[in-house]
Amino acid sequence: MKHDTVTPYNTQHEKKEQVAQMFNNIAGRYDLLNSILSLGIHKGWRKKCVNILQEKQPKKILDVATGTGDFAIACSKLKPETIIGIDISDGMLKVGREKIKNLNLDSVISLKNGNAETIFFPDSNFDAIVVGFGVRNFQDLKKGLRNLHRMLKPGGQLVVLEFSYPRNAIVKAFYNFYFSYITPFIGRIFSKDTRAYSYLTESVKAFPDNEKFTTLMSEIGYVNSNFTALSMGIAAIYTGEKPK
Ligand SMILES: C[S@@+](CC[C@H](N)C(=O)[O-])C[C@H]1O[C@@H](n2cnc3c(N)ncnc32)[C@H](O)[C@@H]1O
Repeated sequence: MKHDTVTPYNTQHEKKEQVAQMFNNIAGRYDLLNSILSLGIHKGWRKKCVNILQEKQPKKILDVATGTGDFAIACSKLKPETIIGIDISDGMLKVGREKIKNLNLDSVISLKNGNAETIFFPDSNFDAIVVGFGVRNFQDLKKGLRNLHRMLKPGGQLVVLEFSYPRNAIVKAFYNFYFSYITPFIGRIFSKDTRAYSYLTESVKAFPDNEKFTTLMSEIGYVNSNFTALSMGIAAIYTGEKPK
């Protein structure tokens, strides 16, 4: 199945509306569930992404699909001048704004409603753009990646963190069991939304594999497109630059 046809609720509404609705539904429990379901591993993955950016010392960062702001908060370690986080779910943004305020980071990080595929910031505006667990939810992946490319400065860096479907047979068996039974079960207990965590599994399976996604980035115009598999292939970091 093509990734853009996998939607949370299988209704007539566009994928982006269904995704925003789903994240609004689970926003209050998202951080808790994230920590339980990933056993905290996701924090280490974001740290790796931040380390990749260290060398470039980005001053202006865009965190796309920021959700409750964790990636933006992790990027504040780079001491940039500004971080802007955008997301289509007001529920997630509300939780994020509260966290950022409590961490006294509101002079550096600001969050606003915006769709990766259509948001308008001027061309060549950001030194770095990061996306954590967001690209899988884009309605039109190519359109989204093109828009991010447009907003990057020449030489600017894109860093994408996303789940992937493992290849090793043993890891795959464990992964299938975990994502087919454990994740939806815990998701159902802790969130009001019974579909959200089944959608997670389905959308990961339907998403382009590591090589396909890297090729797509190159086709769109990113150079030095590459990936690093994480935790036995259950996630990956994709990197690419806008040519100078
Ligand atoms: C799994 S959460 C990830 C949040 C955060 N980046 C993190 O690392 O925890 C995915 C987020 O992507 C957002 N999203 C999905 N499609 C989007 C789009 N086209 N533009 C902006 N945000 C989008 C959702 O609303 C949701 O908050």
